[in-house]
Amino acid sequence: MAYEKNRVCPVTLAGGLDNRIRRWLQNTRKILGPYIKEGMTVLDVGCGPGFFSIELAQMVGKSGRVIASDLQEGMLRKLRDKIQGTELEERITLHMCEKNKLGLSEGVDFILAFYMVHEIPNQEDFFKEIKSILKPNGQVFIVEPPFHTSKTAFEEMVKKAKDAGFTPVERPKVLFSKTVILKKG
Ligand SMILES: C[S@@+](CC[C@H](N)C(=O)[O-])C[C@H]1O[C@@H](n2cnc3c(N)ncnc32)[C@H](O)[C@@H]1O
Repeated sequence: MAYEKNRVCPVTLAGGLDNRIRRWLQNTRKILGPYIKEGMTVLDVGCGPGFFSIELAQMVGKSGRVIASDLQEGMLRKLRDKIQGTELEERITLHMCEKNKLGLSEGVDFILAFYMVHEIPNQEDFFKEIKSILKPNGQVFIVEPPFHTSKTAFEEMVKKAKDAGFTPVERPKVLFSKTVILKKG
């Protein structure tokens, strides 16, 4: 089957995004630890079944908040089922967005976009929109997968982020992945 550009990861593959093997290969606390503090408001954009949203909610603590946003209701439902009846339910706001519009206006301290930017058809607009909700000293963490995003495609993504007014400040190591941390300005 030919690879379809900007194809959205189907809900039927959600199990592949949240399982023991992935937890072993990608330690969520190690990956996110240097950037997340208690009390932060964090956006997990393209959250899928919430592999990172749950860890983020634990890290921001009772005084913090996580906005878990996805365009597929089925993904959000999987996350809701995991947190229902737990203390994390109050900390995680589920938000359904559109393909080319997040539709959020609240300021956030940190944005995680893990394995999702390559699925967005209009990345220029995406970077403009996330810049508008990121607080002045906030950071964006983009992580892209090995096969779907080539080195060239990733650098094109970084260029689009720069054109939208972001500055790359770090390239953290995440197994199998291409990464960048962006700041405003
Ligand atoms: C490969 S999954 C990654 C999920 C999660 N970030 C993780 O690492 O486990 C990509 C997710 O991004 C979502 N997505 C794709 N395009 C999107 C868009 N334009 N806005 C918000 N979410 C989007 C998909 O529905 C899917 O749940």
